[in-house]
Parts: sequence; C-alpha cells; structure tokens
Amino acid sequence: MSKQRLIIDTDTGVDDAIALMMALCSPNVEVAAITTVAGNIDNGHVKRNVCYVLDVLQKDVAVFGGAEGPLFGAHTPLPGLMGEDGLGNVTLSLPSPAHTVQDEHAVLALLRMVKEEARRGDFTLVALGPLTNLAMAVRLDASFVNNVSRLVIMGGAVEAKGNTTPAVEFNFFADPEAASIVLSAGFANVWILPWEVSVRHALAWGAFDDLAALQTDKSAFFTKITSITRTRLQKDFGFWGMPLPDPSAMLVAIEAGAVRQECYVPVFVETCGRFGRGMMVVDWQQQVGMKPNAHVVTEIDSEQLLRSIRNSLLEGS
Ligand code: RIB
Ligand code: CA
Repeated sequence: MSKQRLIIDTDTGVDDAIALMMALCSPNVEVAAITTVAGNIDNGHVKRNVCYVLDVLQKDVAVFGGAEGPLFGAHTPLPGLMGEDGLGNVTLSLPSPAHTVQDEHAVLALLRMVKEEARRGDFTLVALGPLTNLAMAVRLDASFVNNVSRLVIMGGAVEAKGNTTPAVEFNFFADPEAASIVLSAGFANVWILPWEVSVRHALAWGAFDDLAALQTDKSAFFTKITSITRTRLQKDFGFWGMPLPDPSAMLVAIEAGAVRQECYVPVFVETCGRFGRGMMVVDWQQQVGMKPNAHVVTEIDSEQLLRSIRNSLLEGS
C-alpha cells in the first residue's frame, strides 16, 4: 500500500512536536515538507524547534520558513505554557540544530509543492497553527485551493469553549482574517479538529508516566518537552491530563478510522467583536444560507491516539 503523503504547516510548540513525531515515525506516512508560521512562539523559534525535532528523530524533511505574524495586527505568542523556546526549554542548552531551513519562502513553496503533489496524486495538507501561510497562498494563486485534495485543520472551538478568550481557540484567535479566508476559499475536503475534542480526550498523567517508562531516546525527548506544560496544567490549573490538539488533528489526518463522530456543516470565522474576534461559527440550522464547507470532528478514538503516540516513541528502537 502506498504511503500517505503530507505537507505539514506548524507553529511548533510542544503539541505540534508530538504531532510531527506521529507523522514522521509512522510507517504509513511520508512527510513531503514542513512549513512554519508564527504562533505558539515567534517564527524564528518555530523554525529552530522543527529542526530540533528532525534532528532528534534523525529524519530529513525540507523545512520552509513562513509568516512572521498574522495578516492584520501583531503576533501574540501563547503565554509561557510551553517554555521560553516553545519546546519546554529543552533547546535553551543545546547548540544550533543540525537541520537547516530552505531559502524558499513557505508560501511560495506551498504553491509550488501542492502543484507537484497534485500531479502525483492525493495528499493531505495538515495545518497545526495560525492559518496565515495558507491564506496568503489562497490570495497569491487561485489554483492552490483546487490542488489541495484534503485539508486537516486544528482550530476553532465548536462549542464556543475557547482557550484564549472565552469563546475563541488560539489558532483562530492568532489570525482571524486568515482563518476566515481559508474557510471561505472553497477547499473541497476540509476536516477541522476543534479544541474541545482535545480537552475531552486529554492524555492522562498516568499515560505520560507509561510513555516515559518506554526508555527510548524519543520517549525521553517527549518527556522533556512536555515537562513544563504538564507542571503548569497539573499544578496551576488542576487539569487531569494534557489536551493534545495537534496530535488529535494529526490522528484525523493519518488514521481516518479514528474519527468516531463528525458533522458536515457550514463553518465561518468571526473577524469582529470585542469577545468574538476569531470565533468559529457553525451554522447548525443553516440560518444564514451558507452551504456546508467542513467536516467538524466531534469525537475521536483516544485509544488510537495513545497508540499512535506510543508507536512513534518506539519507532526504530
Ligand atoms: O489552541 C491549540 C492550538 O494552538 C494548537 O495548535 C497549539 O499548538 C497552538 O498552536
Ligand atoms: Ca500548533
């Protein structure tokens, strides 16, 4: 069976790194390229973090640097949940990564690569951060939309239980205009993994201890990069586990059978309002005359998520 090909757009932070490990270590997946975008942390750190992940996994994938901030306004990083470097402060004591970033800008690389991938056959574009790069690609070349056979997005709060403002999830909050452009661009096969699903299927702390006990280089890296986030969530917020939004979205991308419930509905993003800017709006009753444009995933198989993460930490050992 031919491998599934992915292009991954990411603002690598801790959960993005775990999602990258799932894809890069899966025997059924080939990662064609990784593009970076400012989000969890500034794009300079995102590029370094992606290169560190490739170094640790000893994988060679082309990395392209993308947008340094949103289409409108200034970049607003996540407050310290992932450490100063966005990767649990693991990289602060390391020399520069061996892996390097390509000269071509991510948006131009995306336009070029999706044409190449479309000629090869189906592939999936996985968006794990703010949608700035994708929105710029949509605006630069109308053929981009038709060349992307499937788009999987981690973003939005389908029940309006936000993680950044009361009703807004971070990736859509960070660049509401970009999210609005992408969701209204006409991509034919869009899947959205919203924030609340990752909270419902948070990885319990006991599972973290089991993964640490695997005692592989990858499990040691996993334990180190998640340590700060675990402490903050457990001690400061009393969470019973760690929501893993990007790994949950990657599961949708690489193991479609793990989707337990989804609904094909009209989805758009609010770009105005003091509290609503960036809000994911689902027209459940189709009251505003929009056609359905996205499969919103409302349940996943959390056993498959844990298995996929575990397998990635055991790969090659
Ligand atoms: O709201 C969760 C999303 O914001 C995840 O993609 C996380 O990495 C941050 O980018
Ligand atoms: Ca992310």
